Amino acid sequence: MRILVTGGAGFIGSHLTDSLVKAGHQVLVVDDLSFGKKEYIHPQAELIQLDIREKSLEKVFFDFAPEVVYHLAAQKNVRASIENPRLDAEINILGALNVLQSAIKAGAKKFIFASSCGIYGEASSFPIDESAEEKPLSPYILNKLVFERYLQIVAEGKINWAALRMANIYGPRQDPYGEAGVISIFLNNALSSKPIYIFGDGQQTRDFVYVEDAVNAFVSLLKTGQGIYNVGTGREVSLLELVEKIKLIADQDIKIEHTPAIAGEVRRSALDCGRLQAASYWQPRFDLEKGLGFTYQWFKENR
Ligand SMILES: NC(=O)c1ccc[n+]([C@@H]2O[C@H](COP(=O)([O-])OP(=O)(O)OC[C@H]3O[C@@H](n4cnc5c(N)ncnc54)[C@H](O)[C@@H]3O)[C@@H](O)[C@H]2O)c1
Repeated sequence: MRILVTGGAGFIGSHLTDSLVKAGHQVLVVDDLSFGKKEYIHPQAELIQLDIREKSLEKVFFDFAPEVVYHLAAQKNVRASIENPRLDAEINILGALNVLQSAIKAGAKKFIFASSCGIYGEASSFPIDESAEEKPLSPYILNKLVFERYLQIVAEGKINWAALRMANIYGPRQDPYGEAGVISIFLNNALSSKPIYIFGDGQQTRDFVYVEDAVNAFVSLLKTGQGIYNVGTGREVSLLELVEKIKLIADQDIKIEHTPAIAGEVRRSALDCGRLQAASYWQPRFDLEKGLGFTYQWFKENR
């Protein structure tokens, strides 16, 4: 199939591109390389370096005529979205609409969007399923929800679509210098013999998903599924538990320093993925110990 991946030079998008190329698909990556890296793109995939907000995006779609579009390009910094909500909306709403409308006009059959479980905010029961209340706490997350709504309204009847509400994805190639990606930040500190800084008491929990499992979720929806799907493991892990696992893998004693808790940070997270499992038979295959091991090894060799 001809498949276009926006954000295909980034962390998740580059792994997705690898998987699609290996399965024999023809892949075109659209990425402005603002965060992604050219060297992460599979040599058999083509790159068009372009901002998704550009008018010329439409021509790229007409020339390539993708059958499927994966939309992962995004401004993904929560703090930046609070400081500059307009820029976030320009990329994550207007840019995303430019991708969606170009896909529809060029005759693509399927549109798959990288959404976020941040949409649930502070949930009241766990694991969280897709019917839970939506409580976005930042412009970045609000715009994920708004674009899901656009999909429901604009895409309906014109293109088959799916939105994956992903939990915390981790693995090789994740940026350890960003604000998110707690595992890559912790591993990087451990390998540099620096303390690990934890906001608050460290009892906050997250649902950590290895990147290959996230990629398999995207791929599992190539030919099936329509609507909104959670991507997680259902397992809640506290940051203190995570550090204990990292200590074991790194085989060293790591100093933990607690800094003040961040106002508005979600306390607990774990996703119910029954809907995706029913639609595509997807299952997470990497437990945290295994995924952490691979990620630690990659950071050791590639830092
Ligand atoms: N990493 C996670 O845990 C996680 C969780 C939930 C959702 N997501 C979503 O998944 C997607 C991919 O996340 P990631 O962690 O791989 O991020 P990433 O920053 O590594 O990848 C994003 C890519 O988009 C590109 N990009 C940014 N703005 C662009 C623009 N205006 N035009 C063209 N390209 C642009 C960047 O250069 C980068 O290569 C994002 O939409 C993100 O919001 C990620």
